Amino acid sequence: MQRVLSFQMVRGVNESREFVTKRMCFSFILSIGFLTFLGGYTLGRFVMIRAMEFRAEKRRLELAGNGLENTEHLQRFMLKQLERASLDPDFEMKWDSFNLKEDDIYQVNNILSNLSLIEKVVKCQSHIVATARGAREPDRYVVLSASGEGVGIALKLAKIFNQIQEECTWKPRRSIIFCLFSASSNPCPEILSSFLPHKIVAYIVVDHQALQGKGHFIVSGSDIVQFMVLESASIVKDWFSYDNQLLSSNNTFYNVTTSRLALDIPHAVLSYVNNNITCNEDHHERELHKIILAQIVGQTIWKFSESLIIKWNPSYFNNTALDILKSINNTELLDVKEKVQQTLDKLLTSIKICNKKIDTVDNINTLDTRILNDLMMDLDRILLCPDKQNQSRTDWSKFFRLNHEPSDKIIMYMNEVVKCYENAIQFLQDR
Ligand SMILES: *[C@@H]1O[C@H](CO)[C@@H](O)[C@H](O)[C@H]1NC(C)=O
Ligand SMILES: *[C@@H]1O[C@H](CO)[C@@H](O)[C@H](O)[C@H]1NC(C)=O
Ligand SMILES: *[C@@H]1O[C@H](CO)[C@@H](O)[C@H](O)[C@H]1NC(C)=O
Ligand SMILES: *[C@@H]1O[C@H](CO)[C@@H](O)[C@H](O)[C@H]1NC(C)=O
Ligand SMILES: *[C@@H]1O[C@H](CO)[C@@H](O)[C@H](O)[C@H]1NC(C)=O
Ligand SMILES: *[C@@H]1O[C@H](CO)[C@@H](O)[C@H](O)[C@H]1NC(C)=O
Ligand SMILES: *[C@@H]1O[C@H](CO)[C@@H](O)[C@H](O)[C@H]1NC(C)=O
Repeated sequence: MQRVLSFQMVRGVNESREFVTKRMCFSFILSIGFLTFLGGYTLGRFVMIRAMEFRAEKRRLELAGNGLENTEHLQRFMLKQLERASLDPDFEMKWDSFNLKEDDIYQVNNILSNLSLIEKVVKCQSHIVATARGAREPDRYVVLSASGEGVGIALKLAKIFNQIQEECTWKPRRSIIFCLFSASSNPCPEILSSFLPHKIVAYIVVDHQALQGKGHFIVSGSDIVQFMVLESASIVKDWFSYDNQLLSSNNTFYNVTTSRLALDIPHAVLSYVNNNITCNEDHHERELHKIILAQIVGQTIWKFSESLIIKWNPSYFNNTALDILKSINNTELLDVKEKVQQTLDKLLTSIKICNKKIDTVDNINTLDTRILNDLMMDLDRILLCPDKQNQSRTDWSKFFRLNHEPSDKIIMYMNEVVKCYENAIQFLQDR
């Protein structure tokens, strides 16, 4: 090698030959070193870029479809498991006697404490609160509050989530709280609002009366949570091809008895309407209703827990309000009706602009998505527009009950609705 290197030098000055050769050799070694370094650097860079690409690809997959696409098979698995829920005696039980029989609360405690998904169980005399900690946003909570047969639904869901966690190393994105109570009164809002009112993304209620009706599936509650439940119901209906008898796709909520809860937290109450007094028990139908209810609850909780961005399409809100306004034909009310209509239009425009902004947000930026979700929670709360007793001022089902009251009372009610909507518009414009 030295010979090759010094080939040119041989022809040159003889005495400097050795020196030149040494110098050449030295620079050769330096070049090799440099090349090795360059090669190593390039290879390192290549590996690093590939790793970064791989990570970006993984992240892209994680975020696809609002963060739901990657785990869609798990979501389907959950719904399939619920289809077979009646094989589980814990699902079948009515669980009505938490405060009467200590056995019940011990048994529920044992079931929940046994699940590795559940981080903490707090047991009291007539209620039990179990928390599954979220992996990405542990400080945001989706709450399922249940009593009576709803407890069976909650237990089954907890078990299925646990199974998915153990078998697929999945963890919920946001925290999930199961608050189970005896049928007499619901202590959950009080328990929760004492320490995390502004961190509850959605508060879902399935109480002991949820399955007593034989009529339509209905949901009352704050506008955004109600929308999410209805959307979940339509997904469940499509996947399992339930007919309109079991799950009507266009149910209206304002002609029924369930109104919103006296609660300033985004919420929804799910149940089957009791539209038939001659309630002779059809066991099969009731069983199916329970399974469908469980599937809708499961799907709703999945969405609230897993979606990157909680987005609201106000079409149902719009249709409901329009239907109600259409039904007003009393001449004394026409002025205020026009006012509500105009405010509603303005509100819908603001929501449209807000939704456009949401569409342009880079969902890789967790901070931005969190800010947006908090904004939606605040908007839902503002639209509830609670009074001093936490009764919603914008509950259309209440308006329907006012129908036979004197006009001035209805006008007062509608003016309050206008004020609430104006607050919401202001809130959206300030963002
Ligand atoms: C707890 O889990 C184990 C297996 O994971 C099961 O065998 C046992 O029956 C469970 N106990 C209760 C009370 O569910
Ligand atoms: C529900 O859908 C049926 C047909 O699909 C339609 O005739 C009916 O008017 C709808 N009801 C409401 C309240 O939209
Ligand atoms: C409530 O609405 C549903 C669907 O439009 C309808 O079938 C039912 O008769 C209504 N009930 C009352 C009490 O108006
Ligand atoms: C009420 O229930 C009875 C018995 O199940 C049934 O025959 C009747 O059609 C129902 N009425 C309505 C309005 O659904
Ligand atoms: C107003 O509505 C009531 C009930 O909704 C109806 O009976 C009445 O005919 C309507 N009047 C007019 C002028 O449309
Ligand atoms: C509200 O509903 C009406 C009637 O269905 C429709 O014309 C209007 O475009 C809707 N507005 C929005 C913002 O969706
Ligand atoms: C209304 O809700 C807030 C927070 O959830 C609570 O602190 C307050 O006590 C409630 N007020 C009434 C009258 O229930």
